[in-house]
Amino acid sequence: MRKTLKSAHRYLKRAGAISAALSAAATVAAQSTAAPLAKPQVHIVATGGTIASTNYYSANVGKIGVAALLAAVPAIDSIASITGRQFSNVASGAITTDMWLRLSRDISDTLRARPGLAGVVVTHGTDTMEETAYFLDLTVADPRPVIVTGAMRPSDGIGIDGPANLYNSVRVAADPGSRGRGAMVLLNDEIFAGRDVTKMNTVRPDAFGAPYRGALGVADPERIVWHRPPFRQPLFDLTGVRELPRVDIAYAYAGADGAAIDAFVAAGAKGIVVAGVGRGGTTPGIDAAIRRAMQNGVVVVVGSRTGSGGVAVGEGAGRESGSPGTVGAGDLPVQKARVLLTLALLKSTDSRDVARVFAAHQ
Ligand code: SIN
Repeated sequence: MRKTLKSAHRYLKRAGAISAALSAAATVAAQSTAAPLAKPQVHIVATGGTIASTNYYSANVGKIGVAALLAAVPAIDSIASITGRQFSNVASGAITTDMWLRLSRDISDTLRARPGLAGVVVTHGTDTMEETAYFLDLTVADPRPVIVTGAMRPSDGIGIDGPANLYNSVRVAADPGSRGRGAMVLLNDEIFAGRDVTKMNTVRPDAFGAPYRGALGVADPERIVWHRPPFRQPLFDLTGVRELPRVDIAYAYAGADGAAIDAFVAAGAKGIVVAGVGRGGTTPGIDAAIRRAMQNGVVVVVGSRTGSGGVAVGEGAGRESGSPGTVGAGDLPVQKARVLLTLALLKSTDSRDVARVFAAHQ
């Protein structure tokens, strides 16, 4: 057993090392033979995460590349013609707003350059997957699907979920019923809208859910089942956008003062999302800091730390103080509200306009 694991590690290490070369070769191969292929074409963009890790629960975490990810799922070749690209190989906690911009452009450029592509699969760490998926949902205009997937168990673990998630993601990306649904997340056979999905458990393979709106569909063994017709929310155009405005999240709790909000403003935040108590409530200290922030032109969105339920979007709604000018997050969790506020601030820094954007995304 020890020997088997050791040789598996050796293989994964080797595969990781040659991944970049293989992925480049795969890209060239697919492009030069695109026309005669009968199978749907799916492009994989690998960013890292547990799906691409080895020795995960040790101090010596290793990484594997896109070629090794694909090598673990030989059956993938029977459903699609695959190309792959290594975008990054990081834990998703290291994904930045700058990387969101580049990833979105990268995917849009690839879709534009390859009209024969059925869809794109992004492999990603699960911790911030929901934020990247929502950003892509709001910014990749092409009607072809972007499926974001990952794994709760490392590539050399027992009973691993990564290969099944990758296989099913390719099936969904190749499915004609995926068109017009934007960016989705697939784990544990379930398909979720990028907007609605959230990680709800730290370790279980069924960690993902959409508590307020439910799953979009499932990848059953025989076919992809869709529960709802395709739908997309208003999009944001990133043309000419060089960087995204800083938006921070401040957490409310009994006795919290406004120090975090003041610090975010001092650090250059253009927007702040407050994870409010209950239905978007705050504390006297946070309330005072929100007023100071707004006097400095910072747009403040108030959501809830409860994990489900909404904070009415209308200005000032949901705040016990009733002070005007804050925007309710609706049913978006605060980390999703941050994504939407970041993009909304590209259009306007007036909280009334931002409230209209949030209303349009409920
Ligand atoms: C990460 O988000 O990169 C680590 C956790 C995971 O991928 O499951």
